[in-house]
Amino acid sequence: MRVLVSGGTGYIGSHTVVQLVAAGHDVLIVDNFGNSKPSVVNRLEALTGRHLPVHSFDLTDHDKTEHLFANEPIDAVIHFAGLKAVGESVELPLEYYENNLGSTFSLVRAMRRHGVTKLVFSSSATVYGTDQEAATEERPTFATNPYGWTKVMQEQILRDVAVADPSVRIALLRYFNPIGAHASGTIGEDPQGIPNNLVPFIAQVAVGRREFLSVYGDDYPTPDGTGQRDYIHVEDLAAGHLAALNRLGTMDEPVGTWNLGTGQGTSVLEMLHAFERAVGRELPYRVVDRRPGDVAVSYADPAKANRELGWVATRTIDDMCADTWRWQQANPTGYPD
Ligand SMILES: NC(=O)c1ccc[n+]([C@@H]2O[C@H](COP(=O)([O-])OP(=O)(O)OC[C@H]3O[C@@H](n4cnc5c(N)ncnc54)[C@H](O)[C@@H]3O)[C@@H](O)[C@H]2O)c1
Repeated sequence: MRVLVSGGTGYIGSHTVVQLVAAGHDVLIVDNFGNSKPSVVNRLEALTGRHLPVHSFDLTDHDKTEHLFANEPIDAVIHFAGLKAVGESVELPLEYYENNLGSTFSLVRAMRRHGVTKLVFSSSATVYGTDQEAATEERPTFATNPYGWTKVMQEQILRDVAVADPSVRIALLRYFNPIGAHASGTIGEDPQGIPNNLVPFIAQVAVGRREFLSVYGDDYPTPDGTGQRDYIHVEDLAAGHLAALNRLGTMDEPVGTWNLGTGQGTSVLEMLHAFERAVGRELPYRVVDRRPGDVAVSYADPAKANRELGWVATRTIDDMCADTWRWQQANPTGYPD
């Protein structure tokens, strides 16, 4: 297939692009480089051995999106593009709604106009609100912050689009906590500013960019008192997109919803110790107050994706830490400008 990957130079998109090309798909990317660097493209071309056409514009721009679809044959879209920082979304709600909903509007409009019916969408465990323990896809969706609401709303918009046009096939993929990097160490997560997520933060402590890890609360009702999350290797997550893309071709229903997670919770301290094993030394941390809005435990029930997509996450926490550390060591300040 000729697959348009929106946000294809970002963290999850870039790993998915490599797997798409390896599986024999033709890939084109659209990204405004709002949260990624153009140098990612050189790395992707080196890994895939292919020239990758990259269209650099903002997807909220209807005219440019329409122009792309009018000029390029496209069989399917994987839609990663979006803003994703929960805390920032509380401070900048309008920017989040405008960017995340606006990019979906112009993308889906252009798809409809040009008869593109297959879409894989990046949703998130955040649509389970505070009810994230052993979450199944049937659980009601709600959110506790503007970022989460953009995901709940985009899911609803896409379901409504599918009602209006039964020829469309849409996969809503609810990711848990992607970490890790490509085994080559040449692509990985490159957060701008202070990392919002645990593992990039630990990696920056390990490489000397941050002094210590702040552990937000050790009095949660978990075995060691720290919050548990379902961490999934980004390569397993990328593989979930290929499985969903294949599934679109045989789906009876227009919309399918799947959790992509391992089904296992790992605590903050367990993750820290796993990273210490990868690095080969202890890493400094301090316990500080809980962060408002954090839930104690979040993990997926991935049974539906295992069964219906024929997909299962195979990589361990130690694999995730080893790959993150390889990427971080080789790229201590992230991608070059
Ligand atoms: N990383 C996570 O923990 C996580 C968890 C659940 C869901 N998700 C979702 O997965 C998707 C990808 O996440 P990621 O971690 O790779 O993020 P990322 O920021 O690394 O990648 C997103 C990419 O989209 C681009 N982009 C954003 N808005 C755009 C626009 N209007 N037009 C064109 N390009 C635009 C950015 O420049 C970036 O390259 C996002 O939709 C995110 O909400 C991520």
